[in-house]
Amino acid sequence: FTADSYPSLQRDPRYATLNQADIDFFRSTLEKEGGSIVNGLDQSTDPSDLEAFNVDWTHKYRGKTQLAIKPKTTEQVSRILKYCNSRRLAIVPQGGNTGLVGGSIPVFDEIVLNLSLMNKIHSFDELSGVLSLDAGVILENADNFLAEKDHMFPLDLGAKGSCQVGGCAATAAGGLRLLRYGSLHGTILGIEAVLPDGTILDNMVTLRKDNTGLDLKQLFIGSEGYLGIITRLTVICPRRPRSTNVAFFGVSSYENVLKAFSESKSYLTEIISAFEMMDNTSQRLVDALNSTQRPLEEEHPFYVLLETQGSNKEHDEQKLNELIENLIEKEVIADGVIAQDESQLRVLWERREGITECLAKAGSGVYKYDVSLPLNVLYDLVNATKERLADLKLLGESSDQPVIDVVGFGHMGDGNLHLNVAVRQYDKRVEKALEPWVFEWVASHRGSISAEHGLGLLKKPYLGYSKSPEMISLMKTLKNVFDPNGIMLPYKYV
Ligand code: FAD
Ligand code: MLT
Ligand code: ZN
Repeated sequence: FTADSYPSLQRDPRYATLNQADIDFFRSTLEKEGGSIVNGLDQSTDPSDLEAFNVDWTHKYRGKTQLAIKPKTTEQVSRILKYCNSRRLAIVPQGGNTGLVGGSIPVFDEIVLNLSLMNKIHSFDELSGVLSLDAGVILENADNFLAEKDHMFPLDLGAKGSCQVGGCAATAAGGLRLLRYGSLHGTILGIEAVLPDGTILDNMVTLRKDNTGLDLKQLFIGSEGYLGIITRLTVICPRRPRSTNVAFFGVSSYENVLKAFSESKSYLTEIISAFEMMDNTSQRLVDALNSTQRPLEEEHPFYVLLETQGSNKEHDEQKLNELIENLIEKEVIADGVIAQDESQLRVLWERREGITECLAKAGSGVYKYDVSLPLNVLYDLVNATKERLADLKLLGESSDQPVIDVVGFGHMGDGNLHLNVAVRQYDKRVEKALEPWVFEWVASHRGSISAEHGLGLLKKPYLGYSKSPEMISLMKTLKNVFDPNGIMLPYKYV
């Protein structure tokens, strides 16, 4: 989808167009301290060098930037924003570009400000567990660093090898263990951010408690780059668990998945660290594209990946075994397996973490919806979607039916469903059938239209399904305070 696919979107003429003097300014600002630019105005630049900055992870959205800026220091970010603000050059911040809502790439010719060169870990305090690092540090690198200190990053997700901690903060990413370690709104203690006028906001607090005035950093967590650029973070990190167990269950109905969740919380209490639900369609996709063997022989309508993390292996295993005995006795689960070693543990996680990639390869596109719902109706949305697409004759095996599969999986422990509609090719009929119908369905069940991926370009028109006009109006007022010229993240978010 390029901007042309959205006739309602027009390039805003208030934004300036990039010229050679701008390039000269950026080059001179960056070169001294090791930053760099990729300049499409230069005839000798290979157009494919800009491709990675213009196309998102899903390959659904494509922008037309002529310039990607990669600063090395906060001061450079400040000088660049100040300059862009005075010139009214529009900017899209970019981390690892793994976002799934079209937020991290330009719509038209916005300048991409990519954080990948700001990738230093500054300090770690073993007593408090507080880590201080640049926004551009790759999540997995941060976690590997912490592993050496017997700690872990409080967030983990399938894109950890590419996404940046700053991008995760900007989207308030939830991930696989939120039910245990909490949201980034709680674990990020401090933030350094640069406002569009170049002001550096130093809120790099390392304290757990700090009730002094408005907690401004919270505005940046989940703001997707709408208010400014996050350049540094302090994060409170838990001890690395000494014992991790992973079990994988086959379950005959969604009702039993709910029972399994309730029993798991009751038996495992403080050691439960993940409870992930997957339907059979998602696992068939993984089978088709992934070389790992099915953990369970028979197929089941639903699967659950349950993880415990604790400090005493014997104690954790005893609790898990008692839970499983109970689940089998009450016929809540039909079959199950527990990982016996690290490699089996990884294979089981791969059945869950690999779904996104397998979905991306299933056809030529995926319509992705990331919603929060009350647990009792969570999977009803998948059934309702299947019915709707079948009724409209859009779902089926024939090549003129665009929809291949409707898949449901997600962070059940957080009430977060990922509804995915895999298509042979993107098709306006499917989009029309799903939007705003999915959002209406979610709103009518008092859910949220964006649980963890954010709004980006995809959900901007639908915010009203989750937020009142008064709240949206206040968001716009705040935007005007932070960014009166509107240079940050145009055409997206709110
Ligand atoms: P980008 O994609 O580059 O940017 C995301 C948004 O933040 C954009 O609007 C961008 O402008 C803005 N931004 C980026 N960096 C900054 C910054 N420093 N300052 C200000 N704004 C910035 N998400 C979950 O919540 N849970 C999951 O379990 C999960 N799993 C995923 C698995 C896969 C395989 C993939 C591809 C994605 C997954 N995601 C998940 C999506 C998730 O949003 C991202 O992986 C991650 O949070 C984005 O980080 P990023 O560095 O790639 O940010
Ligand atoms: C996940 O939980 O795997 C992610 O949020 C990615 C997705 O929704 O595809
Ligand atoms: Zn997710």
